[in-house]
Amino acid sequence: MQNNVFEQMAKKYDTPERIELANVIVIELRQKLHNSKSECFLDYGSGTGLVSLGVTDLVESVLLVDSSKQMLDVAQAKISRQKISNANVLCSDFTNETPELKTDIIFMSLVLLHIPDTKEILQVLFDILNEGGKLIIVDFDKNDDINHPKVHNVFLHEDLKKILAEVGFESIEIQTFYHGNNIFMNQDASMFIANSVK
Ligand SMILES: C[S@@+](CC[C@H](N)C(=O)[O-])C[C@H]1O[C@@H](n2cnc3c(N)ncnc32)[C@H](O)[C@@H]1O
Repeated sequence: MQNNVFEQMAKKYDTPERIELANVIVIELRQKLHNSKSECFLDYGSGTGLVSLGVTDLVESVLLVDSSKQMLDVAQAKISRQKISNANVLCSDFTNETPELKTDIIFMSLVLLHIPDTKEILQVLFDILNEGGKLIIVDFDKNDDINHPKVHNVFLHEDLKKILAEVGFESIEIQTFYHGNNIFMNQDASMFIANSVK
């Protein structure tokens, strides 16, 4: 949906502010990846890899999936430059095409807010997870001050929990882990992390 926007901003996406926010997410995510050394990790809506390239040492492999080729070009350049041997990129929009792959962990950071039909994308992600696989979502908590036609404003934990359960996820846990100034559309906001199991 925001594809064109991200295509245009890819080369200047990695600002100091975005890197700082991504580092907060990396620290939180790394705590969830203990004992994942033999697992395949898919970062859906990976962007330039600011988050998932920070966890490649904790998993077997990382697949960065994004609908924006330009964002992935930036990610691929980092993978090549840093000689990361277990990370690959895939340009795809799972809301338009059915992916033919399976994975153990799916991660989504600041992406769900850009996808209009939350349940539909969560169903696709559920289908490509192996049995017992994990979905980890990081996004912004609901903020009534945000009013933008192209993004959700964003999620109440209870609403998201309900959708995840309807899709079939179990052991759903959602918690807010960070509050920051001017981190979402120039507004103060908080971020949650949601863990669910197939
Ligand atoms: C705000 S960026 C977040 C990037 C990265 N996850 C991070 O936390 O730094 C959102 C990303 O989601 C991607 N995106 C938006 N809609 C998508 C879709 N339907 N399928 C795949 N990627 C999508 C955009 O191209 C963009 O790279």
